Amino acid sequence: MTFQILAERPSDAAHIEPLLDLTFGLEREQKTVYALRDGLAPAPELRFAAIAPGGRLLGTLRFWPIDIARQAPAILLGPLAVEPALQGAGIGRALVRHGLAEARRLGERICVVVGAPSYYEPFGFANAGLAGLILPGPVEPERFQVLELVPGALDGLGGPIHRADVAGGRRRLTG
Ligand SMILES: CC(C)(COP(=O)(O)OP(=O)(O)OC[C@H]1O[C@@H](n2cnc3c(N)ncnc32)[C@H](O)[C@@H]1OP(=O)(O)O)[C@@H](O)C(=O)NCCC(=O)NCCS
Repeated sequence: MTFQILAERPSDAAHIEPLLDLTFGLEREQKTVYALRDGLAPAPELRFAAIAPGGRLLGTLRFWPIDIARQAPAILLGPLAVEPALQGAGIGRALVRHGLAEARRLGERICVVVGAPSYYEPFGFANAGLAGLILPGPVEPERFQVLELVPGALDGLGGPIHRADVAGGRRRLTG
């Protein structure tokens, strides 16, 4: 399967919601991670699409801004979804690889995900609870994972994950 990973195009948005409904089901918005996203837009420069040669959307990956213990900005990976007929062809991994590389390039320091450990461990994710983070709301503990995009970014950090406070404008990523 030939595909390209690109920044999400405005025309992709209309295809993403139906793909998420198909892959995660209509109940998806009741999940704990949706409470962190509720009312907030995905990080503008961290929205990616897997695109077929003819331009069709095959997969989506978006990241949301979050906040750790009111001490540090971070990002939440997902939702990640690939068209059912094309799952298992490497599209999901290519989206994650590209998305994490872009996040690093943009200065993001910490990435959190709720997902299958076997899928995310190869990217360096490790158990977030053991790292001292708390996800408000029900979650299967082994699915709650974190990745330091910058080595040592979690040093001295711990506590609950909150929705990002983006009201004040640009998020501060350094310092
Ligand atoms: C999960 C998903 C995004 C992966 O994308 P993909 O393009 O199918 O995956 P890739 O081809 O990159 O990788 C395939 C590998 O992922 C594994 N995998 C696929 N879905 C998985 C899941 N829900 N949990 C754990 N592993 C999974 C496959 O077993 C395969 O492993 P292998 O290479 O050892 O055989 C895609 O299958 C999907 O949209 N699933 C439905 C939505 C969903 O469950 N999302 C959960 C994200 S945590």
